[in-house]
Amino acid sequence: MSSSEDQFRSATAPGRVNLIGEWVDFNGGIVLPMALPQSIHLELHPNGHNQDRVSSQQFPDRQSFRLNAAASGHWSDYVRGGLQYARARGWLVGGQDVNVASSIPVGAGLSSSAATIVATLKAATQLEHKIDPVDIALAAKEIENDFIGVPCGIMDQMAVAIGTPGNVIALDTRDLSYEIISLPDDWTIAVVHSGIGRALSDGRYKVRREECLEAAEVMNVDYLCEADLTSTNKLAPMLARRARHVISEGHRSTRAVEAMRSGNRPLFGRLMIESHASLRDDMNVSVPAMDIMIEDAISLGADGARITGAGFGGCFVCLLSTDASDLWWEALKARHPGLNRIA
Ligand code: GLA
Repeated sequence: MSSSEDQFRSATAPGRVNLIGEWVDFNGGIVLPMALPQSIHLELHPNGHNQDRVSSQQFPDRQSFRLNAAASGHWSDYVRGGLQYARARGWLVGGQDVNVASSIPVGAGLSSSAATIVATLKAATQLEHKIDPVDIALAAKEIENDFIGVPCGIMDQMAVAIGTPGNVIALDTRDLSYEIISLPDDWTIAVVHSGIGRALSDGRYKVRREECLEAAEVMNVDYLCEADLTSTNKLAPMLARRARHVISEGHRSTRAVEAMRSGNRPLFGRLMIESHASLRDDMNVSVPAMDIMIEDAISLGADGARITGAGFGGCFVCLLSTDASDLWWEALKARHPGLNRIA
């Protein structure tokens, strides 16, 4: 056994919130995710057995799996996908005892799954196989697509592999070039959990994705974000709505980068409001109860608010002036006592 084969390894990866640029990451658009203070910390201990044994602070029952066992629908799939990938590349040897501690709420749209895979890969490569974070993100996406079976884009993995809290990543999903922009001092991003649960693996993500890819094919473009809004009339009504969302969201996220660079909070807020309307009416990924919460967040003083991540429930993200954010939250919470502010 080489010295590293029996050594303990650990790594941490944050959750993320996407400020704008929704459903554009596999359509060639720009996305603006930001890492959250909440994170996943994971420890790997080689156990000398032909089994991976996974436990967490939240779900203490330790689960054992054969080294190459397929995904089972259990939360530990995200860890095991990472371990199997790392072993196949010689970054890790043998079975591992894995302890996971997470402060990222599950099912909230804050990328706890991407953070789990990225933390596993970072831990696996901690000692002697240092790898570029972009390669970690690409590996994590491959695991999510092929092992877990969710055909997601690259936004979440890039955000959690590269991001640090308070910094926004303006990521061009076509070539993975990115710029880190610090959130202006007088801007506060509030991330609020609606209390409505969601899961990407239930198939709705895949259906929306296929609709986007079909629209791009009919419009004869490599990426839907390259298409022209005026030519969406070539499409059947539902595909036209999906295309309208993606193309207009691509334009909004491009303008949002400029708005953030120049500190134009009202403009950034307006773009978030338009993004939500488009997600609600054209992408059809909002839920009526969240539409009301988001309207109230805006009428109580947020510059902008929108459902974040894939949608279908989970969290919404709001932009506020730092001075106004505490009173705003008290007023919103008084109106919707079930809300939970995550950041
Ligand atoms: C999920 C996916 C991402 C992205 C968003 C929607 O978070 O994992 O790749 O497509 O939905 O913007």
